[in-house]
Amino acid sequence: MSYESMNWDKLGFDYIKTDLRYLSNWRDGAWQEGTLTEDNVLHISEGSTALHYGQQCFEGLKAYRCKDGSINLFRPDQNAMRMQRSCARLLMPHVSTEDFIEACKKVVLANERFIPPYGTGGALYLRPFVIGVGDNIGVRTAPEFIFSIFCLPVGAYFKGGLKPNNFKISSFDRAAANGTGAAKVGGNYAASLLPGSQAKKLNFADCIYLDPLTHTKIEEVGSANFFAITHENVFVTPKSPSVLPGITRLSLIELAKTRLNLEVVEGDVFIDRLSDFKEAGACGTAAVITPIGGIDYNDNLHVFFSQEEVGPITLKLYNELTGVQSGDIEAPEGWIVKV
Ligand code: PLP
Ligand code: COI
Repeated sequence: MSYESMNWDKLGFDYIKTDLRYLSNWRDGAWQEGTLTEDNVLHISEGSTALHYGQQCFEGLKAYRCKDGSINLFRPDQNAMRMQRSCARLLMPHVSTEDFIEACKKVVLANERFIPPYGTGGALYLRPFVIGVGDNIGVRTAPEFIFSIFCLPVGAYFKGGLKPNNFKISSFDRAAANGTGAAKVGGNYAASLLPGSQAKKLNFADCIYLDPLTHTKIEEVGSANFFAITHENVFVTPKSPSVLPGITRLSLIELAKTRLNLEVVEGDVFIDRLSDFKEAGACGTAAVITPIGGIDYNDNLHVFFSQEEVGPITLKLYNELTGVQSGDIEAPEGWIVKV
């Protein structure tokens, strides 16, 4: 899609080549000075560990255009820290929080014309990543690395935005119990491609994974975290070492407690106890908050509040979160970094 033909109100989650991306190489034990480049094609060794052994990790965060024209980054320090943990898990050199945020700002400013206007519901999605590159063949950490950030304007990840979607419980696991589930690494997503496509073929938005040890508890959606609201108005979200610690999830926990005065429980969500909940949702940077209308488990669809409209507590959480992100509602201390 060209810039001129962009329809800001109808953006989905599709690749659009923007003007400039940030690129830094790690050589001889240090990150080299990063540059902004027009070229969106990487030229890397055929022996790169990222290609063969999955030595790579990525992040996802958004920049928002505010009503006053300024630009907000939402909790980029959290993304920086999560990327540091992912890098540590895969034996890759980490990027400091300061360098990460500086690089994000550079990319946003260099592509400012691609930030969706205030009020369209869209945002500029930033995709930072670190990959192992350089000549290599054995299973070992790479001799060189690339840290890059590109960006693109996005709208809703799941169709319909605030319209509830149905999800299907997968019989596959996306991550092992003591594996890499808590790290944002490509291997977890490679494992989710087949189950995800099977669910989509059956008209589900995506699948939901159960815990890999007992297959009795909800872990997360392939591309977002899971939460639910009990009939007593408790906000519940799974806590597990194989779930990705989402920044949206973390933020909703705090907003639920401090702004909506809800009790919050991080714990087990048993798949045979879905009737404890009146609302459910998927939350993440791309997904924002996507209400879950129903969950299919062994070909039985459990329906929550409604398959047609978002539940009232989910809607309040959505309004609070998106209001904070776009600067309409005062943010908790430290959550917004102005570009
Ligand atoms: N879980 C998975 C598997 C994800 O891909 C994402 C998206 O990043 C999330 C959860 C939510 O994380 P965040 O809120 O930090 O985007
Ligand atoms: C995100 O929300 O940033 C994600 O990474 C989800 C998905 C696009 C993989």
